[in-house]
Amino acid sequence: MKRAMTKTDNSGMIIDLNPSLASFQKDVLTGLSRNPKVIAPKHFYDERGSRLFNTITTLSEYYPTRTEKRILRDQSAAIAAAIGTSASLVELGCGSEEKIELLISAVPMVKSYTPIDISLSAVEDTVSKLKIVCPGLHIYGLCADYTSSTDFLQYTASGRRVILFLGSTIGNFEELERHMFLENLRAQLSPDDGILIGIDLVKERAVLEAAYNDTSGVTAEFNLNMLERMNRELGAAFEVEKFRHTAFFNEEKSSIEMHLESITDQIVEVAGKSFTFMAGETVHTENSYKFHVEAFEKEALEAGLSLKKVWKDPQGWFALTYLEAAGK
Ligand SMILES: C[S@@+](CC[C@H](N)C(=O)[O-])C[C@H]1O[C@@H](n2cnc3c(N)ncnc32)[C@H](O)[C@@H]1O
Repeated sequence: MKRAMTKTDNSGMIIDLNPSLASFQKDVLTGLSRNPKVIAPKHFYDERGSRLFNTITTLSEYYPTRTEKRILRDQSAAIAAAIGTSASLVELGCGSEEKIELLISAVPMVKSYTPIDISLSAVEDTVSKLKIVCPGLHIYGLCADYTSSTDFLQYTASGRRVILFLGSTIGNFEELERHMFLENLRAQLSPDDGILIGIDLVKERAVLEAAYNDTSGVTAEFNLNMLERMNRELGAAFEVEKFRHTAFFNEEKSSIEMHLESITDQIVEVAGKSFTFMAGETVHTENSYKFHVEAFEKEALEAGLSLKKVWKDPQGWFALTYLEAAGK
């Protein structure tokens, strides 16, 4: 990670830790050299990727956003009581301002809000929109990769902190990565701090698969944008129409897998290196794990976190969980 740069605009303070192009290139070259090929989902989110994701959240098939928002609305008093007064809120992978707007209107006397996202445009949009709705609130945005820094909380306000990790973004990690991530969060928590994590729950395959295969093709565009991003930023030579989006539920892993499948045998140049793709071969671009609350509680405990509260929607499709350091 490069040295922190700060900039101030009329919407607030943003610290840009500048997740570098070099690390994107390194991840791509390493991932495309593997068998099977893989690129981490964090690389979806350039400005266009963030915009496409925000469109996905409005689609009828994509239930997670509206379901989590419903829980935030319906259970606002109980969630606010768990968060308590005068908390500094830190949101990992903020995406947009919509959920925090709901939460902040319910939580009394929020001391400050720090949105953290790998996408600078996501942080800028969140900060500027929230500044309008909550003009008196202290907001410090942070553009950073929360997987490559162990100490991002040093940039957040002092005092009691509640970390928000919404949208089931935690489901993008493999089991071991999740464990290490939660353990790292635990290591940074003070005894009075808390974490609010949204998790998408196991449900009927048809509902899960429809959410990642929308009929308007926005998720396909979002997935294929990974190739376009490599073309734009790494001078890669992908012919996007020679790949297609696939997404399916891997029941054994309890995970939706998203892939980019090569339609034909082809060789593609990326940052001066040639990669061969056979027809039908895929690049694995995302896992989205689907949880059972009891299993998540066990995982959290293994990382030193104890589950204090769970709120679900009436269908039991999504859960918001509130955790604290175990044995505090
Ligand atoms: C699935 S979206 C969820 C957005 C929002 N939290 C919501 O609930 O709708 C994941 C968000 O996390 C961000 N993100 C993904 N990986 C990240 C990483 N390693 N570091 C920082 N932000 C990341 C993305 O840019 C994106 O805004």
